[in-house]
Amino acid sequence: MSGQKRILLIISGGIAAYKCLELIRRLREKDFLVRAILTKAGSEFVTPLSVSSLTEDKVYGELFSLTDEAEMGHIQLSRDADLLVVAPASADILAKMANGLCNDLASTTLLATDKPVMVVPAMNVRMWEHPATKANMETLNQRGVVQVGPDEGVMACGEYGFGRMSEPADILQAIETHFSQESKPKQSSNTALRALVTSGPTHEAIDPVRYIANRSSGRQGHAIAAALAASGIETILVSGLTDLTPPKGVKLIPIESAREMLAACNDLLPVDITICAAAVADWRVKDAGSQKMKKEKGGLPTLELVENPDILHAISNAGKTRPSLVVGFAAETENVVNHAQAKRKRKGCDWILANDVSEGTGTFGGTENTIHYITNDGVTDWPKMTKQAVAERLVEEILAHFADLGKTTDQAAAD
Ligand code: C5P
Repeated sequence: MSGQKRILLIISGGIAAYKCLELIRRLREKDFLVRAILTKAGSEFVTPLSVSSLTEDKVYGELFSLTDEAEMGHIQLSRDADLLVVAPASADILAKMANGLCNDLASTTLLATDKPVMVVPAMNVRMWEHPATKANMETLNQRGVVQVGPDEGVMACGEYGFGRMSEPADILQAIETHFSQESKPKQSSNTALRALVTSGPTHEAIDPVRYIANRSSGRQGHAIAAALAASGIETILVSGLTDLTPPKGVKLIPIESAREMLAACNDLLPVDITICAAAVADWRVKDAGSQKMKKEKGGLPTLELVENPDILHAISNAGKTRPSLVVGFAAETENVVNHAQAKRKRKGCDWILANDVSEGTGTFGGTENTIHYITNDGVTDWPKMTKQAVAERLVEEILAHFADLGKTTDQAAAD
């Protein structure tokens, strides 16, 4: 990322405002400059002092403050940033933005800006699902406002559903993705390529209410899909359930089980590139009950497991429809490189990205990854980096690979 990027963070009212402090901390760690506007409602949840200690700047709040206007008018405030992030974005501020209302510093700045805007909605599930909020969000999306979340879960009010503000790590990732996409002009030569990415966990039913799953966050697969799309490659993401917002410009096909994932992938072949980053469950329950299993029946149930299809193996051995480049992951806890090399052969894929997921590495579900990049030519150790940086590096390798193929074809034609 070139130069220090400036974020204008607009904190509106909502219990989730406390997460902004962590967001500011993480942004500062990544060398972003953060300036904050705290709405009146926002200041009921976090204090200007805590915000300004973390941003190391004053906090703006009043529209009609003569001192503020003299030092930094609201127009300049809006222009002096590379990105405006509204987090939490309450139903109220979304409504104001959609309708062009401006009666405080936050809404006035948002109306006056000519810079990209990202919103991170946070509200009660009923408010989020209200047709008015939906229409407002749709209007903002159509105007190019980037949306992050909301996530699903239990809310402060005790209700369950979509409305929780995304976690600071996910907001940071969305901000970094925004800037990396912005800095990379779309390469028209890549638009001929089509990629399929698998991501997230699979859920294998035990009965209609219970399932077997794993802790995959989907962060790595989603970041790869985002990076591919940002480079101009048509990208389809087949993903199990995650809390993540589908990346911009990527077609998402949601699935639950391994068998659904395989069927979705088979339907999409042929493609040029496939990257299997999903954490597919190795086994499923042989006879998943069609009714909820009852504990009153007495005794403990016995679950007979059967093997799930191996999607990476199936795609690598798909004969005529095999993609020209198939990439898999190998999450290992010991002898990482040796096991991954054997896996590359066994599965029949071209490249393997091996990572150490042993306890203490924090890879699984975390935001960073340490990769050994394994191809036919050998092993390259990449330094520890964010999952987004891994995605970008992988896409660079992919583009170089296809550029080489292009050269080879040209040279073959010339011979
Ligand atoms: O065999 P293992 O699970 O270690 O292999 C990991 C790689 O294989 C990952 O790329 C994963 O996405 C893929 N995989 C798959 N289908 C399975 C199991 C793993 O696509 N059933």
